[in-house]
Amino acid sequence: AHRVIIDCDPGIDDAIALLLAYASPELDVVGVTTVAGNVGLDQVVDNALRLCDLIGGAAAATPVLRGHAGPLARALRHPDEPVHGAYGLGGVELPTPTRAAHPGHAVDWMAERIRVGAPQEITLIATAPLTNVAALLHTHPDVRERLAEIVIMGGAAFAPGNTTPAAEFNFHADPEAARYVAEAGVPLRIVGLDVTRKALTPLADAEALIADGAPATSAAGRMLSHLIERYARRHAVRACAVHDALAVAAAIRPDLLQWTEAWVTVECAGEFTRGALVADVHGRTGLPSNAKVATGVDAEAFRAFLMSRLRDRYGA
Ligand code: BDR
Ligand code: CA
Repeated sequence: AHRVIIDCDPGIDDAIALLLAYASPELDVVGVTTVAGNVGLDQVVDNALRLCDLIGGAAAATPVLRGHAGPLARALRHPDEPVHGAYGLGGVELPTPTRAAHPGHAVDWMAERIRVGAPQEITLIATAPLTNVAALLHTHPDVRERLAEIVIMGGAAFAPGNTTPAAEFNFHADPEAARYVAEAGVPLRIVGLDVTRKALTPLADAEALIADGAPATSAAGRMLSHLIERYARRHAVRACAVHDALAVAAAIRPDLLQWTEAWVTVECAGEFTRGALVADVHGRTGLPSNAKVATGVDAEAFRAFLMSRLRDRYGA
């Protein structure tokens, strides 16, 4: 199995991403690191610990680490709209964690774990603001050439954002970090909002998970129903994008998506475009590609993949 560290801010779609990762024999999740994003750091740590208990098995023993409590160069801003509910998991209450976070800082733990592994052993899946990842690559530059790849949910290369007209939440929350990671020279795979929005999970799937009734399937179904209710307010569908789960799927089955090579960076100074992902798909800059950027997805294949993995691993 492919060893991964998941850097996240759960968050409903982060929660589904964790459930999918642990349901997938292709992946061995060696650590879950957290960063402020959808909700504050204390809350995302708590949510990650609760989710690991819910998943059980190997997850209940995976180190969960506290990372950065806010962006590198800007004040922490909480999302204007609490899309994930006040506590981040759409009002779904999971039992109090049975353990505390692993001691130490997420960034130092990641560096150590990457160093003790073989070269290219670890893939990082980043489903949150890129603060921890940028700090890792900056403070511990030796890990750059040891990482197999960083798979990122973030940006909206070919479409409008969800936080400003130009920017997606994860990149907008810490644009300097996103830019630093984009230009760090580590192989990247970027799954942006324009693509995650093509791969919707319908209400019927959320209801089927609730009906299944096992603890993890019903929690997943209830979280997704919350997200669908929020998504339906802005989009004329009874369905939702599960952004972060698509990034995990991209790490397992890149063939579910279409990709283009491009030089990418992130706008940090724009008056209206701060946090926008800029992808030079037509080679205007002459700079060599530094990322594979998703351009499309087989939406039905992803929907079926996610549902079957959740049902097979967690179903009653
Ligand atoms: C991203 O922002 C967060 O709200 C989600 O968890 C996802 O990582 C989508 O823009
Ligand atoms: Ca997230």
